[in-house]
Amino acid sequence: MTKAPLDGRVAVVTGGTRGIGAAIATSLAEDGAAVVVSGRDADRLGRVAKDLEGQGRAVLAVAADAAKREDCDRLVDAAKERFGRIDILVNNAGITRDGLLVRMKDEDWDRVMEVNLRGAFLMTRAAAKAMVRQKSGGRVINIASTAGAMGNAGQANYSAAKAGLIGFTKAAARELAHWGILVNAVAPGLIETDMAAAITAGAREALLAQVPLKRIGTAREVAEMVRFLAGDGAAYVTGQVFHVNGGLYM
Ligand code: NAI
Repeated sequence: MTKAPLDGRVAVVTGGTRGIGAAIATSLAEDGAAVVVSGRDADRLGRVAKDLEGQGRAVLAVAADAAKREDCDRLVDAAKERFGRIDILVNNAGITRDGLLVRMKDEDWDRVMEVNLRGAFLMTRAAAKAMVRQKSGGRVINIASTAGAMGNAGQANYSAAKAGLIGFTKAAARELAHWGILVNAVAPGLIETDMAAAITAGAREALLAQVPLKRIGTAREVAEMVRFLAGDGAAYVTGQVFHVNGGLYM
């Protein structure tokens, strides 16, 4: 039997119970990685674990809030305990709390920063420590957004957090290169998930009108880019932002 591309490697995907995160967990598992998925909903975690196990994959589901330091440390410890190591981290957990800037509540700003940006820092710090000790490199893939590159009206908090995540990606890439840990970002455009379902029909049409490919993307199409960045083919790629957006932003 031929060896799968990620055989023997362990991947952690935050917010991996639905949408883009679930598609990423599935594609990494298909490539042979043992996958640890985190989320906050125990029922959904159980379902994802059962699904992947049913397909013969090695999976661990851990309830953890990506914005809490103790939870991030516990998640990385659980991955190490169950699978012995950690090779790939995908910082996917993200939320929106949209609103006009002049009316935005402090807590909507803070919570979006906490989950989307601080969460990625906390997870990367915990995982990178383990990767450095393992001395066999690693991959960190941050799920940013087109909003972080071009801004989006009604999403000052989210755009700032995702732009911050891109800066964080570049700084971490420079710092962690010494240990062979490659850090990249994937910036999806409009993708069909629960998050996109929350956008009003009017705003969705207006966005779609700006997409040269004239359609919404799928979670699987984002996962394909992550699959590439996690694999050996991306060995000379770090500190980059990969846009998966049908041409919305070039
Ligand atoms: P989603 O809302 O369907 O899924 C987000 C996942 O993150 C869920 O599993 C949720 O439980 C989890 N999550 C949220 N807060 C969490 C926390 N504090 N701790 C742990 N898990 C948490 O959203 P979707 O669309 O799958 O988004 C995934 C990522 O892609 C997010 O970072 C989002 O910002 C980004 N993105 C999505 C786009 C879209 O059009 N759907 C466009 C650009 C970026």
